[in-house]
Amino acid sequence: MQRDVDQVLIPRAQIAQRVGELATQITADRSAAAEDGQITILPIMTGAMIFCADLIREIPITMQIGLITVSSYPGRSVISQGAQVIGQQLGDVKGRDVLLLDDILDTGATLRLVKGVLEEKGAASVKTCVLLRKDRPSAQSFAADYVGFEIPDVFVVGYGLDFNNHYRNLPDIVTLKEEVLARP
Ligand code: XMP
Repeated sequence: MQRDVDQVLIPRAQIAQRVGELATQITADRSAAAEDGQITILPIMTGAMIFCADLIREIPITMQIGLITVSSYPGRSVISQGAQVIGQQLGDVKGRDVLLLDDILDTGATLRLVKGVLEEKGAASVKTCVLLRKDRPSAQSFAADYVGFEIPDVFVVGYGLDFNNHYRNLPDIVTLKEEVLARP
């Protein structure tokens, strides 16, 4: 797996530090805005799984966790094929403040889709937090409330992000060698 890596874009220590900063900011905003207990954290599966696990353990407030699975890069795709909800276990979101977590903001289609689902189900508010935002105009078209890192417009894997459902367990955020992406 390591030999498929081209460059380490964000090393694990830098991710951990930034995740801590995001958690501090989210906790402070939440404490200023509302009473404890009404927040639902909704990671978008599968990419946000590791980000969510690390982030929520640094947010010391009462919360519920839901799950939603969206697919936009099926199989070996490195270009979005359009976002589609393929599974959900939202819990009760009606009247609740929801914080959506995603690994990366690219075209904005995923967050737009899931925000729409939550608004339809009567969430009181929906905020969004992404670990990465690609430096491309379409990513700016969706205003995320919290952004971890801006990255160049390249395909990345690791820390939950995948290629063909591999590499999610790499602890750093990396790019892959051209020949790996081109393998039949
Ligand atoms: P959109 O285009 O909906 O993209 O904003 C968000 C979803 O697309 C996936 N995505 C990537 N996955 N490396 C990946 O492994 C990437 O560089 C990448 N760019 C987008 C991801 O699932 C995200 O939730």
